[in-house]
Amino acid sequence: MSQKYIQPINLFEYEALAQERLSPIAWSYYSSGALDQITLQENRKAFNRYRLLPKMLVDVGQRDCSVNILGNIHPSPVLIAPMAFQRLANSKGELATAKAAAQAGTTMILSTLSTQSIEEVSNVGCNRWFQLYIHKDRTITYNLIERAKSAGYSALVVTVDAPILGRREADSRNRFSLPQGMDLANFRNKLPSSANNSALFDYFVDQIDPCLSWHDIEHFQSLTDLPILLKGILRVDDAQRALEIGVKGIIVSNHGGRQLDGAIASLVALPRIAQAVGQDMTVLFDGGIRRGSDIFKALALGAKAVLVGRPILWGLSVNGSDGVSHVLEILQRELDETQALTGCPRIEDINSEFLEYFTS
Ligand SMILES: Cc1cc2nc3c(=O)[nH]c(=O)nc-3n(C[C@H](O)[C@H](O)[C@H](O)COP(=O)(O)O)c2cc1C
Repeated sequence: MSQKYIQPINLFEYEALAQERLSPIAWSYYSSGALDQITLQENRKAFNRYRLLPKMLVDVGQRDCSVNILGNIHPSPVLIAPMAFQRLANSKGELATAKAAAQAGTTMILSTLSTQSIEEVSNVGCNRWFQLYIHKDRTITYNLIERAKSAGYSALVVTVDAPILGRREADSRNRFSLPQGMDLANFRNKLPSSANNSALFDYFVDQIDPCLSWHDIEHFQSLTDLPILLKGILRVDDAQRALEIGVKGIIVSNHGGRQLDGAIASLVALPRIAQAVGQDMTVLFDGGIRRGSDIFKALALGAKAVLVGRPILWGLSVNGSDGVSHVLEILQRELDETQALTGCPRIEDINSEFLEYFTS
């Protein structure tokens, strides 16, 4: 840590410190939602519409918050969401995040748009999944799938809520682009030589395939034995279709409010999806997790585990790998406290009977 600071005690304090540390352009890129940011705000508000209904006189002397996700035991039901451009937060970027994931024994999902490559990040011993944006030029996508497999990634996360990139107005205003010295590490030497650093992002955006359909997902399944999860599901019929074609999991998500503004909060979408398919496939959740009690609520509504997005970037900005570790520790501690105080010593004890919904 170069600058002196009082260690944050919760994620909101990390957020405030990260804002102080980051350049206004990087801060805007990390924090923004699409357009009026209604969905971004709804993601948080949705948690507040649930209150907890604790059970008394339950022996909570021994507590356990471990879960098994796709065959891997995680000490707590928190995974690291895929997020682009982590070297904007800290020079060690995705490597620092991976180190913290290894220390916490959790899974890191590496973004296609990482600033360190699939292979570079594979040198850190955490469980890793690779997030795919699908290129119009499918050979580039097939190549990424092969590289992820060879580098020991254990699942593919196909992001399906981004046929085009949502408009974040702050980024438009700032003409957001990657600073000199940072690149799209997975595409080194693969993009046209005419694409200089600042044009790379625009080039990539132009390459995302808006024609992606269910047929393509089935085709990817035939190309790889890696389990596939679809990220960005908000509807029951889409979840059912995913189950029908045999994908291993879905992530109920609206991309942290960065894609379709006005889309429902992920937490609102979760219970009906979990009810429809949660017995038969792995249902994960993200969007707005900031407290251990938020994780508890998502689990009570049927998620097997949650992904955390922006708070990881805040930890990374404030104190590199140690900051990310601390963010994960805070969430785990708060979840443990919520379990103790609600009378749910094990994750399996958590269910919707511990929640009360109110509309006002
Ligand atoms: C700065 C930033 C970059 C992101 N980049 C990606 C990405 O490359 N691929 C992807 O599938 N999702 C991406 N996401 C969405 C996250 O994976 C996740 O869905 C979202 O951040 C969860 O909401 P939260 O930030 O409120 O926890 C990004 C989110 C942020 C904030």
